[in-house]
Amino acid sequence: MKTCMRHTALAMTALSTAVALAACGSGGGGDPDGGSSPTIGLLLPDATTARWEAQDRPLLEKEIKELCGDCSIEHANAKGDVAIQQEQMDSMITKGVDAIVLVAVDARSLATEVRDAAEANIPVIAYDRLAQGPIAGYVSFDGQEVGRLQGRALLRAMGDDSAGSRQIVMMNGDPSDPNAAQFKKGALSVLTGRVKIGKAYDTLQWRPETANMNMSGALAALGVGNIHGVYAANDGLASGSISALKANKVQPLPPVTGQDAELGAVQRIVGGDQYMTVYKPFGPEASAGAAMAVAAARGEALDQVGKDTVRPIGGKQVPAVMLTPVAVTAGNIKGTLVKDGIYTVEQICVPRLETACSKAGLT
Ligand code: GAL
Repeated sequence: MKTCMRHTALAMTALSTAVALAACGSGGGGDPDGGSSPTIGLLLPDATTARWEAQDRPLLEKEIKELCGDCSIEHANAKGDVAIQQEQMDSMITKGVDAIVLVAVDARSLATEVRDAAEANIPVIAYDRLAQGPIAGYVSFDGQEVGRLQGRALLRAMGDDSAGSRQIVMMNGDPSDPNAAQFKKGALSVLTGRVKIGKAYDTLQWRPETANMNMSGALAALGVGNIHGVYAANDGLASGSISALKANKVQPLPPVTGQDAELGAVQRIVGGDQYMTVYKPFGPEASAGAAMAVAAARGEALDQVGKDTVRPIGGKQVPAVMLTPVAVTAGNIKGTLVKDGIYTVEQICVPRLETACSKAGLT
């Protein structure tokens, strides 16, 4: 934990303040004099999307511990609430953590807290979502490429000769998540002019139940037989859409895209209810995030970790690690998710999927 907490320092006498400031060392958020062990704050956005608590958190915790045995981690989840995340940021700053890994619920609204952290000499690593303000580093995937992979897969599944006669529904993500705009932009760059977009929705907080409601509305407006494909920005939205299609007895189901390689989505892909997901390898993202967080907490430069660069709104250009997303359909589950140890064949191939699994070459 940092010895240079701003609030404490303010209350100190001139002499003890000088001693405390000397113990802070210079630059970065670290604890360069080795006075006490570094603390890293980990702020996750919600519990609606499985990946944050099921994949990112355990991997980040493990990687941070491997790189820094005496580091401790303070985790908090904002449950999709901007005000809660702002409080969590404030609390990390007050505690004087040495670095913060932030997945912003709302990039713009968190900019003030990012600035407060920077002013308190606490580097913020934007994880997966590009936070606004003076962040110290960024780790993510090419979001437009995610959208292009989804769009191309959807065209392929609908039959590439569709030439504008086919109609799709777009279930986009939360507009306050900067990634959602990237996914949409990438998808539209592929889909525009090739299909008719019958309805398009933004989905606050990425809620599957909202996608479910919107899909029911789309079916009522467009007609049950007139939806030939569904662009769902992630697996939660895919799940909500598919259950509405099923509830409305749409047969056969149109191809539906997704993202995040959630276990439920992988099982839907094997079983034929969902066409694809985008797998953004969790391991490399967490490794890069942990390496940046530890370096930042120690007050080290981040350009050794991040060879790419990014310029956030309201901040200067910073080191970044940009990774490559992978499209997953039934045919390559084994060579991607199983190979990387995300899921075992046993986890995916529950008894009801026995036949489908052997067809997909999983068993
Ligand atoms: C995005 C993230 C996706 C998805 C979504 C919902 O920012 O890149 O992987 O999980 O948030 O939480």
